[in-house]
Amino acid sequence: MLVRLDEQVPIARLLTFLERGERIACDCANTQAALAPERGMQKFLKSQARQEAMHALVFQSAIAWLAPKHIGDAPFLPALEAYRRILNEALARRDLLETFLAEQVVLEGLGEAILSRIEEGLVKRRAPFGGLRRMLLHQEEAHHRFGRRMLERAMAEGRIDAATLCRRLEAYLALTNQMVLTLSDLFESIAEDPSAWASDVRKFLPEWLVAGEPKSDQPSALRGVGSENR
Ligand SMILES: [Fe+2]
Ligand SMILES: [Fe+2]
Repeated sequence: MLVRLDEQVPIARLLTFLERGERIACDCANTQAALAPERGMQKFLKSQARQEAMHALVFQSAIAWLAPKHIGDAPFLPALEAYRRILNEALARRDLLETFLAEQVVLEGLGEAILSRIEEGLVKRRAPFGGLRRMLLHQEEAHHRFGRRMLERAMAEGRIDAATLCRRLEAYLALTNQMVLTLSDLFESIAEDPSAWASDVRKFLPEWLVAGEPKSDQPSALRGVGSENR
């Protein structure tokens, strides 16, 4: 694999971020499964939790292989820890819809954007386990789609509206904006284009969410999105 020595630490840090995200996703999906009112939802969420646990192991092995000294590093991204805390508060309130928004839609969308970008870099560096990484990405897409479907169904049934979801989103987006800035520095240090990465991130919010996002004078990495939704 063509990873230069000076690239090992930034790549290991990106992987550490992803590993931590997978553990958050795993715990969240397990709790969501216990809160979900329908059997089909419970089944999907339990299977998601199993997949996230496996993803965390994949990233842990990659870090051990690439930069063993950095395994178990303290989380370097306080924004991700703060994100976990407010997500856990929503779980404690049994606010399933807010957790679908924060975990499956936003956090998984961010993870997908990172993974897709890293994938290009890893292919370029001839990294092994391409098939495994593609399977992982495929599973993440399914988790993200599930979250969007759950919210769209809740809106169609009048259980919540886009304006309320947008208000709940604000605290989470403020934290993802901080993560994007930190991760952009890491991408830059491994000679990946940080602006390409930042624009990937803009693609993950559903159109209905962006259309209702409150206006602000603050620049946001996630504002002005909506034309390229999946
Ligand atoms: Fe995952
Ligand atoms: Fe996931």
